[in-house]
Amino acid sequence: MSSIIENRQITVGVTGSIAAYKIVDVVSKLVQQGAVVDVAMTSAAVNFISPLTFQSLTGREPYVDMWGVHGVKGEAHIELARRTELMLIAPATASTMASLAHGFADDFVTLTALATKAPLLISPAMDSQMWDHDATQANLKLLRERGAHFIGPEQGRLASGQIGTGRLSESQKIIATMKACLGKLEGDFSGKTVIVTAGGTREAIDPVRYIGNRSSGKMGNALAEAARDRGADVVLITTVPETAPEAIQVIPVESANEMESSISDYVTKAEVLVMAAAVADYRVNMESEQKIKREHMKSFSLDLIANKDIIASIDANLIKVAFAAETEDLITNAKKKLRDKNVDLVIANSVTGEASAFGSDTNKITIVDNQGNAEELPVLSKYICAMEILDRISNLVGADSYKEEGSSSN
Ligand code: CTP
Repeated sequence: MSSIIENRQITVGVTGSIAAYKIVDVVSKLVQQGAVVDVAMTSAAVNFISPLTFQSLTGREPYVDMWGVHGVKGEAHIELARRTELMLIAPATASTMASLAHGFADDFVTLTALATKAPLLISPAMDSQMWDHDATQANLKLLRERGAHFIGPEQGRLASGQIGTGRLSESQKIIATMKACLGKLEGDFSGKTVIVTAGGTREAIDPVRYIGNRSSGKMGNALAEAARDRGADVVLITTVPETAPEAIQVIPVESANEMESSISDYVTKAEVLVMAAAVADYRVNMESEQKIKREHMKSFSLDLIANKDIIASIDANLIKVAFAAETEDLITNAKKKLRDKNVDLVIANSVTGEASAFGSDTNKITIVDNQGNAEELPVLSKYICAMEILDRISNLVGADSYKEEGSSSN
C-alpha cells in the first residue's frame, strides 16, 4: 500500500541555523517514502550545510540563487511554488519568521513561501531568548492567524548550552505532522473525528498494584496513525500514551471508568469510535488507599465488581467498531459480540497465533460486518491492517446518510 507521502511534491525550505544538519534526515526519510522533494535554501543555510548534500539525497538541484537560471521556462520560484503540494520550512530562524510574517521575499525560501498556495509548515529553531522575544511571538501569532502550521520548537538543550525552548523538533514529529497535513488536503477521513482507544486498562488494587492485561496498544496506535494519515482528527484515548504516534491528540487514561468518561467527552463530536483497547471486565470494589502489606496477605481475595461494557452502552449516532481477541471459536464469538454490543464491525483476531500474539507488529484479522460477512485477511503489519479496517469504515461513513435514514424510518 502506498504511503500518503508517495509521489507528493514537497518543498523543504532550509534557513540559517545550526539545526540545519538535522533536516538532512527529514529529507532522506521523505525521499525513502517516495516523495518528490525539492530543497530551497537561504544563503545563510549554505553556511551550515552544502546544497550538494541535499542534491545527493533528492537527485534534484536545490534552489539557492534567486537570480540563477534553473533550467525552467519563466521564473523558477513561481514554477516551484505552483507544483508544491506542501511546503516545510525547517529550521526556521527568527529572521525567516519575521520575513514570512511581513511578506518579505528576499531569499529563495521566503520567495517560494510567498508565491505558493500550498499549506505552510514551519518548524522554528533558535535560542530561547529570541523565541521568547515579543517580536518573534507577534510574528508567530500573525503567521498562525494566516493559517501557517507550527511544529515545535521543543524544550531542551540549545546550541548555546542553555536549557530552554528553541530546539528543532525531531524528524519523526516533523514527518508525522507533514502526513497529517497532506491527509487533511485530500484524505477520505478529512473533516471527520475518529476516536481510537488503545492499550489495556489498569484497575487499581492499591497505590502500587493493579489488575492489567497483555495488550501492548500497538493495534490502536496503528489505527490512530492510519486515520491521521487519511486526514482524520484523531483522539487517541490510551493507557500507553508514551508510545502514541505523533501529531495526534492523546488522552492518557488508566482504568475502564476513566476510559469511559474520556470517550463520553468526545463521542458526540465524532463520526467513528474504534475500541481497540482491552478493557477490564471487572474492577476492585474497594481500592485500598494505602499499600496492602504482606503480613495481611496470608490468604487474600479481591472483591471485584463489573465494569460497564463501554462500547455497548454508547448510543450516539456514529460508526462503532469493536475488537474481539479470542483464544477459541473466533468467528462465532465475533458474531455474538457484533449483535450483543450493537456495533457496525467486529475485528476478530486469535491471540494464540505467533503473527497476532500480544505485542506483535503484525496481525491476522477477520473483519466481521453486520451483513453476516466474515472476511479473513492474511498476516499483515498492524498499519496495513489499520488501513484495511479504515477502508471498510470509510464505506460505512460514506453510507452515513443511509444510516440516518435507516434509523429514522425504524
Ligand atoms: N469492551 C468495552 N467495554 C468493556 C469490555 C470490552 O467497550 N467493559 C470492548 C473492547 O474494547 C472490545 C470489545 O468490547 O472492542 C470486545 O472486548 P473483549 O474483551 O474481547 O470482550 P468482552 O465483551 O469483554 O467479552 P469476553 O471477555 O467474554 O470475551
